[in-house]
Amino acid sequence: MNTLVSSFRSSARRAPLASARITKASFRSSFRKYSTESTEAPPPKSSNTALYATIGLALVGGLGYYTYSSSDTAATTAKSGVQATKAALKFTPTKDDYQKVYNKIAQKIDDAGDYDDGSFGPVLLRLAWHSAGTFDKESKTGGSNYATMRFDSEASHGANNGLHIARGIVEQVKKEFDWISYGDLWTLAGVAAIQEMGGPKIPWRSGRIDGFAKDATPDGRLPDASQAHDHLRSIFYRMGFNDQEIVALSGAHALGRCHTDRSGFEGPWTFSPTTVTNDYYKLLLNEKWVWRKWNGPKQYADKKTGTLMMLPTDYALVQDKAFKKWVQAYAADEALFFKDFSAVIAKLFELGVPEAQWATSEPWTFKSSNEQESN
Ligand code: HEM
Repeated sequence: MNTLVSSFRSSARRAPLASARITKASFRSSFRKYSTESTEAPPPKSSNTALYATIGLALVGGLGYYTYSSSDTAATTAKSGVQATKAALKFTPTKDDYQKVYNKIAQKIDDAGDYDDGSFGPVLLRLAWHSAGTFDKESKTGGSNYATMRFDSEASHGANNGLHIARGIVEQVKKEFDWISYGDLWTLAGVAAIQEMGGPKIPWRSGRIDGFAKDATPDGRLPDASQAHDHLRSIFYRMGFNDQEIVALSGAHALGRCHTDRSGFEGPWTFSPTTVTNDYYKLLLNEKWVWRKWNGPKQYADKKTGTLMMLPTDYALVQDKAFKKWVQAYAADEALFFKDFSAVIAKLFELGVPEAQWATSEPWTFKSSNEQESN
């Protein structure tokens, strides 16, 4: 990547004032128009169901119990068909191998051309979150383990509209690193998205395995943006999160935008949708939010510029006292937000993965592109 962009990005990230902060997105927009319409450059929708089913059937015979070592290298003995295959290939990926996957994803994130605000980061983060956010702590079903959004039965859920774009991007990475499981690939893409957009380091472990269509989750497990605080609590408590964690997770809406052809909603939450900041909280508290007058689903617009948006579920965070306390804390202290965001994202991405499956007991952190360039 261009060193100028990279050093620009890190200085932009450190700029203290949100309004004065020149982001990578605005830097880019001096070259190309700031797109409000989605100009999707959609990679083909992956319809590999039959392929996965065949691989799955071929591998299911290899299922057996295994344990992972807690060393820096990955599995010692294979547990699933997938791991059995790796063992047969005598290939045990190390941290360096995963760093290579990270680097490839980072390249793809930047290679977005005129797509949205010039980055695939936000849509990749949304993929990682939707793959993990289906977890149900009672039945221990769902979560990031089996990457069941590969199957049409889950990909077709309304909440997942548009995520074929993200799956298509990482599919190109999978071609080069075919040994990585989809669950690991998608969550690692979420980690890379956050770090490459100037967010905190996200500790990450490998070990997810590819599941089968039967593991796909029923529709309705992801949040419905038109609802309020009760709904948020029932959805996120089901995953095992508390009020503080719900607010910390929601800070991800500093990034990206809504698309009328995906969710029906429209617009970005912040002025810097490709940089991780605590601006989401500041804007929630400091701007006056009014119902947008338009022929679409109910959403808020900022009164001052009318260019930003909040979903009913976002606004619920300042309507509910227990949530609002955390909105205030994160608005006042970006370092606190980064710390809590890192911890809660790491927890989110591990939902649904049995402890015995992890390749290492201690998580890894990966170098961001700008750290590697400065070496
Ligand atoms: C609190 C409940 C949540 C609701 C109701 C919600 C809802 C939505 C909706 C409606 C969109 C727009 C999709 C589109 O039209 O493209 C969206 C986008 C997004 N969401 Fe959420 N979300 C929630 C939580 C989260 C969490 C926990 C994360 C990550 C940790 C997240 C990350 C994102 C990102 C990065 C985008 C932008 C995607 C893009 O630009 O393509 N959201 N969300």
